Amino acid sequence: MKTYKIAAIPADGIGPEVIDAGLQALEALATRDGSFQFDVETFDWGSDYYKKHGVMMPDDGTEQLKPFNAIFFGAVGAPDVPDHITLWGLRLPICQGFDQYANVRPTKILPGITSPLTGVGPGDLDWVIVRENSEGEYSGNGGRTHRGLPEEVGTEVSIFTRTGVTRIMRYAFKLAQSRPRKLLTVVTKSNAQRYGMVMWDEIAAEVAQEFPDVTWDKMLVDAMTVRMALKPQSLDTIVATNLHADILSDLAGALAGSLGVAPTGNIDPERRSPSMFEPIHGSAFDITGKGIANPVATFWTASQMLEHLGEEAAGARLMEAVEKVCEAGIMTPDIGGTATTQDVTDAVCEAIRGSN
Ligand code: NAI
Ligand code: MG
Repeated sequence: MKTYKIAAIPADGIGPEVIDAGLQALEALATRDGSFQFDVETFDWGSDYYKKHGVMMPDDGTEQLKPFNAIFFGAVGAPDVPDHITLWGLRLPICQGFDQYANVRPTKILPGITSPLTGVGPGDLDWVIVRENSEGEYSGNGGRTHRGLPEEVGTEVSIFTRTGVTRIMRYAFKLAQSRPRKLLTVVTKSNAQRYGMVMWDEIAAEVAQEFPDVTWDKMLVDAMTVRMALKPQSLDTIVATNLHADILSDLAGALAGSLGVAPTGNIDPERRSPSMFEPIHGSAFDITGKGIANPVATFWTASQMLEHLGEEAAGARLMEAVEKVCEAGIMTPDIGGTATTQDVTDAVCEAIRGSN
């Protein structure tokens, strides 16, 4: 029997609600399969921890996480703690500390879910966005001087390195190559940004030579929003910088029906450290504690985690169960249903138990 050590960090808001749902589904999968099990340790890090200890996680947080096979993360953010503290105090130190440089965000319209785009249904929108997750606009390089004075200056410097750009391009081309359409769109802004973005384009063209069977094109980020909305069928795999992909993937989630269904994997492709899997959404204060958080994004990211662990069959089984439950109309209010988080979770676990 294989045992996977999972570090669960539910953190804030609806994070604990959806992680609890995700762990129930993982348990059902392990029971159904019989060849693997999970050893889950839950960490109480997040905004409540911050209010007690003044830090979002202990100083040796990443050291504590290092021995795990994967990290299963909820969401951070509290109404009474500034967002830059919650984000830089927990999620980003893990992503950057473990050099999880590929942020992989699949999006498709699940059966039973209505896209806000007219005439667009399942099959018309099936994308994977690859977000550069270690540098670019979120590298944390910058500063502020002359605080509060009229001459105050704030800088936020984008850092693009040849190593960083080459490795994310290779990851994206490889992923595109593994999908049936073998189609990659490289998102850029090299008309206005003449240094980092021009280098980004040049490296994309260099890496493309290694993948002659992948068809690729280049798109300015502003025009990309239009293409996503008007020609979703023309896209498959997409690679973009940290900032651009952050924004585009929220748009992708909305076009696919709800932020509540969109998952993400923060992956260290070299497997030097554990990778981290989470729903894209935040802590959703407006629905916290109401029992109606959509658990689908968390199920989907659990499926990504299983795939990463080498349990592809279990990952596929989980997504089949989710699709079956969505198709049957068992959904939370954000996607037009009346079910609770636990109703959806029960239905998914039932579908897992009844699967072939
Ligand atoms: P949000 O994603 O928490 O919520 C946006 C809207 O989507 C809300 O109306 C919410 O109810 C809804 N929503 C989100 N997830 C849902 C789900 N699973 N089921 C049903 N409805 C769902 O984004 P918002 O409101 O901008 O941010 C709230 C807090 O979360 C902030 O502190 C922010 O910094 C943090 N945040 C954290 C993220 C993370 O941990 N990765 C990502 C985004 C925001
Ligand atoms: Mg975001």
